Amino acid sequence: MLPLDPERLPVHVAIIMDGNGRWAQERMLKRIVGHQRGAETVNMVVEHAWQVGIKYLTLFAFSSENWSRPAIEVRALMALLKKYIRKETARMMRKNIRYNVIGNRADLPDDVNETLDDAIRQTSGNTGMLLTLALSYGGRQELSRAAARVARDVLAGKLTPEDISVEKFGSYLDTGGLPDPDFLIRTSGEMRISNFLLWQLAYTELYFTETNWPDFTINEFNKALADFQSRERRFGKTSDQISLRTEPLNV
Ligand code: IPE
Ligand code: IPE
Ligand code: MG
Repeated sequence: MLPLDPERLPVHVAIIMDGNGRWAQERMLKRIVGHQRGAETVNMVVEHAWQVGIKYLTLFAFSSENWSRPAIEVRALMALLKKYIRKETARMMRKNIRYNVIGNRADLPDDVNETLDDAIRQTSGNTGMLLTLALSYGGRQELSRAAARVARDVLAGKLTPEDISVEKFGSYLDTGGLPDPDFLIRTSGEMRISNFLLWQLAYTELYFTETNWPDFTINEFNKALADFQSRERRFGKTSDQISLRTEPLNV
């Protein structure tokens, strides 16, 4: 495999970490064991992204729709999340990684919110990589919450309808201030977005792999990043405009 070009790395990588349950079921294990193994993959991926020099890493850890799973699985996932954050905050401090959360935190249990607040507070001065966890997150829910906030600001006279540009509206999203993801990876062979970052993924390069999340490796992460580097991002322009960086002769 060719070495990665440090000049052409995605600034922001987002990952839909899928396939923990199937990984476990294929091994006659409980689904939660798959989630536990998945947490180990998270560590590996965070470490590697940091080492390679990715500035923003966003992980889809629990969706708005995942609340409809059996209560026992939801409880186990919340407990695992809390344990993970508690255990890994020291490492985030060593690596200069800052925590961030997007999603509807009002729906998370109080103890999980307290743990998240502690971790966010502790790491708030870190400047190396921003690690965003999408928790109780749904793109449509985020968009409707943003629309409600815009409406409130218009009613309060802080904003006029004419002020609402793409940039302005984007600043009302949970991801306000973050660049859009350049690259999205989804594991486990599903080729869908599942309500993740609907607004922000407008021009993101998508990458799907059959590998279940607990089996995802550094090698595979590198393969995905190399694939990203082979792509031409045109943003609606022509290929000539991108590759020659001049106006084409024949319009
Ligand atoms: C992803 O793995 C983790 C979460 C959604 C919390 P899944 O639990 O969705 O695994 P599968 O898709 O059932 O295999
Ligand atoms: C998406 O995975 C959410 C997370 C990875 C947290 P799901 O497993 O919930 O997605 P669907 O239900 O297969 O679309
Ligand atoms: Mg799944």
